[in-house]
Amino acid sequence: MERHIFKLRAYILFLVRAVCFFGLIWVFDVNARPVRTATADPDSAQLFAYAKEKNAGREGLLYAWSLDGKQWNSIGTALAFVKSDYGRWGEEKRMINPVIIPKKEGGWAAIWQLSPSSEGPYAYTHTSDFYTWGRQEYFVKLNNMDHSIVSEVKNSLSAQHQVMLNGETVKGTKLKVSWTVIKELIKHYDLAVLKQKQWYERSVDDDARFPGLQPLNVRLTPRTALSKPISDMLVGVFFEDINYAADGGLYAELIQNRDFEYKLSDKQGHDKNWNQKTAWSVDGAEQFHIDSIRPIHSNNKYYASLSGSGIFRNIGYDGIALHKQERYDLSFFGRVPAGKKARLNIRISTKEGKVLDETSLTVADKDWKKYQFVLTPSSACKDAVLEFAFTDVQQLDLDLISLFPQNTFKGRKNGMRKDLAEAIAALNPRFVRFPGGCLAHGDGIENIYHWSRTVGPLESRVPQRNMWGYHQTVGLGYYEYFQFCEDIGAYAVPVVAAGVPCQNSGSHGHPLGGQQCGIPMEDMDDYVQEVLNLIEWANGDKNSTWGKVRAAAGHPEPFHLKYIGVGNEDLISDVFEERFTMIYNAIREKYPEIQVIGTAGPFFQGTDYVEGWKIADKLRIPIMDEHYYQTPGWFIHNQDFYDKYDRSKSQVYLGEYAAHIDGRASTLEVALAEAAYLTALERNGDIVKMASYAPLLAKDGYTQWRPDLIYFTNTDVRLTPSYYVQQLFGNNSGTEYIPVEASYSNAASDVRKRVAFSIVKDLQDQSFIIKLVNILPVAVNMQLELDQLNVKGDTALVSQLTGKLESKTAKPEEKIVTVDKLKNQQLPPYSLTIIRIQPGAK
Ligand code: AHR
Repeated sequence: MERHIFKLRAYILFLVRAVCFFGLIWVFDVNARPVRTATADPDSAQLFAYAKEKNAGREGLLYAWSLDGKQWNSIGTALAFVKSDYGRWGEEKRMINPVIIPKKEGGWAAIWQLSPSSEGPYAYTHTSDFYTWGRQEYFVKLNNMDHSIVSEVKNSLSAQHQVMLNGETVKGTKLKVSWTVIKELIKHYDLAVLKQKQWYERSVDDDARFPGLQPLNVRLTPRTALSKPISDMLVGVFFEDINYAADGGLYAELIQNRDFEYKLSDKQGHDKNWNQKTAWSVDGAEQFHIDSIRPIHSNNKYYASLSGSGIFRNIGYDGIALHKQERYDLSFFGRVPAGKKARLNIRISTKEGKVLDETSLTVADKDWKKYQFVLTPSSACKDAVLEFAFTDVQQLDLDLISLFPQNTFKGRKNGMRKDLAEAIAALNPRFVRFPGGCLAHGDGIENIYHWSRTVGPLESRVPQRNMWGYHQTVGLGYYEYFQFCEDIGAYAVPVVAAGVPCQNSGSHGHPLGGQQCGIPMEDMDDYVQEVLNLIEWANGDKNSTWGKVRAAAGHPEPFHLKYIGVGNEDLISDVFEERFTMIYNAIREKYPEIQVIGTAGPFFQGTDYVEGWKIADKLRIPIMDEHYYQTPGWFIHNQDFYDKYDRSKSQVYLGEYAAHIDGRASTLEVALAEAAYLTALERNGDIVKMASYAPLLAKDGYTQWRPDLIYFTNTDVRLTPSYYVQQLFGNNSGTEYIPVEASYSNAASDVRKRVAFSIVKDLQDQSFIIKLVNILPVAVNMQLELDQLNVKGDTALVSQLTGKLESKTAKPEEKIVTVDKLKNQQLPPYSLTIIRIQPGAK
């Protein structure tokens, strides 16, 4: 049930995200608009602003106009002009009784109820053109707003008008505006609808879109004189503990709920079976209960307490996957507080009871003691259990029961699951962003991720609710993240909350939910210090206060942190700006060498994007994090997105992106749209410094968000076509971009757009890398004019990813070809081809 709720929430989020653009948001039916037949334009007209009562206005603000106040014409109901951003997706984001009133200083204010009660809370925003909107603010009561408008709002609310639109009576505000306003709104709306249509284009419909299309001839001529340096860290990964990516995933621990800290609140009460005993059971014992008297550590309050005789069992994450003859570290804390010794037989067994390895020991201490030994299963098993058999025990307390493979990635203790880590490493990412995503800023201020609570001995870390609806042990904590980055040669890019929680937080007892519940100002100094401590922990001398903590964990040398993200696609409000600025200034002052990454909201446009960038300009933030999950059509039609960016401003980190289709499948179709976009990112590699697909990992059966780059079970890892695209770009990035002149046998821009390319040079090994994407249903005969490149090598490695558009298993194939054969390439329909010419390669 819980999973379904999350799936539903993610799906709703997808629908909303997939359709947002120009401040207009796609809703449902498209009404035919009557044509105005008057010969001369009138001076003014009436504008009617309303939100549909059905679904509590979640579809947002709509407009109609009239010349006589009787006959009303809808500007269109397929798109909304602004939407409420308050609270959780699905349950909230309501816009009830919106009113629009003129502001004394010019422009217009929009105010609406966030709940059916007129008592409040209320939202406020403003506009000067009725389609671009300022920051949204939320107020517990109407009277808390700027008092100069309160009485007008009250009047407007009590004098709501009703008009008849398309046979339906709707309630809203009437305003007199100039006719130019109406004309602009219609123009804006029409343009948005047109673009929307393009963005919903699917390659699977290409036969109808391009009837009779002939194979295309394209000639590419590199212009080496125009080469420019580009980022050497363009392709990285974004790791978030979503979809069981950490516990039960990359973190190699095999025991689920090893610390008995699971709580019903992890699931927000939706799954009554989720509790401190989850994954544990006992056969035969007189008692198995959870206790909290004198725990191992105050951060780890609960433990299991057993008495009598029986078998205490953990099933891992739907079974424990074991490899034959590999070594597994079994450890736990135990005590017998009443003094009577407890003899234990500890074993790993199949579900049917076949013992794969076992040991026996006696717990004799009254105080907590750590027990450790190694188990080596005699055969492989994909769904084993861990058992503690005990007889006639008076009281046996157990906690932090761990079964950890020794065969982790790079053999790290408390490390990563090898196959998953290897799959990530094989992407050759230049950086890893972690720990989220929404996880970083959390669901409400109490759920903000605090890095310092995730380092140190496991028993002293602070486990907490994972906002994606499960539990995080934080066994995979900051030390492990940094070590993993070092192991794979990637920059660590930690993201800390900007003093505010996720914009989609629930209220958690706060009167205004997440948005206006930034960390209280009186606590902000401590929070800022916590962020500064992170930098000292990562980079400080081993004798510094926080450097000591790092050194004690086994890393006396600094981690050489260079980048830190502050905020994650936040609602850009005054509350945000105040807190972000405090953190930003403190870092700049104490650690000017650290590059701060700011945030520009969850979309590629709209209020948060605009306001986020205003802050970037004001504070001169070095890098801005942008996010957008869009349709493949959006990626195809927006390859020029960064061509227009002002090079004198902040650089960009495209921190989260992916192409989404209905059903959210990971197919070749979406992967090729991403590949085309990646060539555009390379072209803009002078301003786009970094990019990471999102999310990275998803466990089958435990997925809250699709699509993902890598799917896995306890035993298998499944790589998607999007994974291979990332890998091909990760392994073939360059440091210099060589502009290309292209000529085509077909002049149609819709056709040309579907052939994407880039040429880069890797100055390290002097390779030239040519990337060619064909998203057409016909072959492309590609003529490459290589003379200008002055190629040194004789041969090239050609990697090609192609197949059926709906394929979820397409994989690249490789071949070596001689350089003279490269001049004329035939690119198959729907393919990505990467040619790497390395000097000296024979
Ligand atoms: O990648 C999944 C989620 O998408 C991230 O947590 C969040 O930042 C974005 O909304």
